[in-house]
Amino acid sequence: MKPKSSKIYPISISVNNVAYAIDVSADETLLEALRNRLNFTSVKRGCDSGECGTCTVIVEGKAVYSCLLLAVEADGKRILTLEGLSSDGELHPLQRAFLDHGAIQCGFCTPGMIMSAKALLDENPNPTANEMREALQGNLCRCGSYVKILEAIKSVKQESRTRK
Ligand code: FES
Ligand code: FES
Repeated sequence: MKPKSSKIYPISISVNNVAYAIDVSADETLLEALRNRLNFTSVKRGCDSGECGTCTVIVEGKAVYSCLLLAVEADGKRILTLEGLSSDGELHPLQRAFLDHGAIQCGFCTPGMIMSAKALLDENPNPTANEMREALQGNLCRCGSYVKILEAIKSVKQESRTRK
C-alpha cells in the first residue's frame, strides 16, 4: 500500500444529511475517508482505480467513483451513500426491488449499482433501457447479475410512473 502523505487538511462534508468535520491527508481518497474515518462501509473498495464502480457514491447529485476523488476535493460537498437511502427502517424502493428481483448474488457490486441507479432515476425518472445500460456501464458485476439488476431498476421506474 502506498505511503500516505503526512500533510493533514481539515474538511467539512455532509454525508447522508449529517455534517462531519474531519482531518484527512492530502492524498486520501473520498473512498478511504468514508470507509476508514466515518465507517460508511457500504462504499466498497474494488479496483481502486476507476474501473469497477463498487465505490460509487452520489456527490452533489452526480454518481462518482469515490476512489478517484480526493477527500479534500469533496470539502463542502453533499454526499449520499447507500446508508442514507433507507428511512424509518424502510428500505428505499431500489433496495427493495433488488431484493425482490434476486438482483443480488455476492452483493459486492450492489451498493454501487444502487447509487448509480438512484442518480439516474433522480435525473431521469423514466429512462429507456439504453439509458439504464449507459448509466450502469461503469458498474461491474462479477456475478453477472446484469439482467436482474436492470429488471429491478425498471420495476422502480414503472412504480414511480404509476404513482404519478
Ligand atoms: S473501487 Fe472505485 S471504481 Fe473500482
Ligand atoms: S452480485 Fe456479485 S458482483 Fe454483483
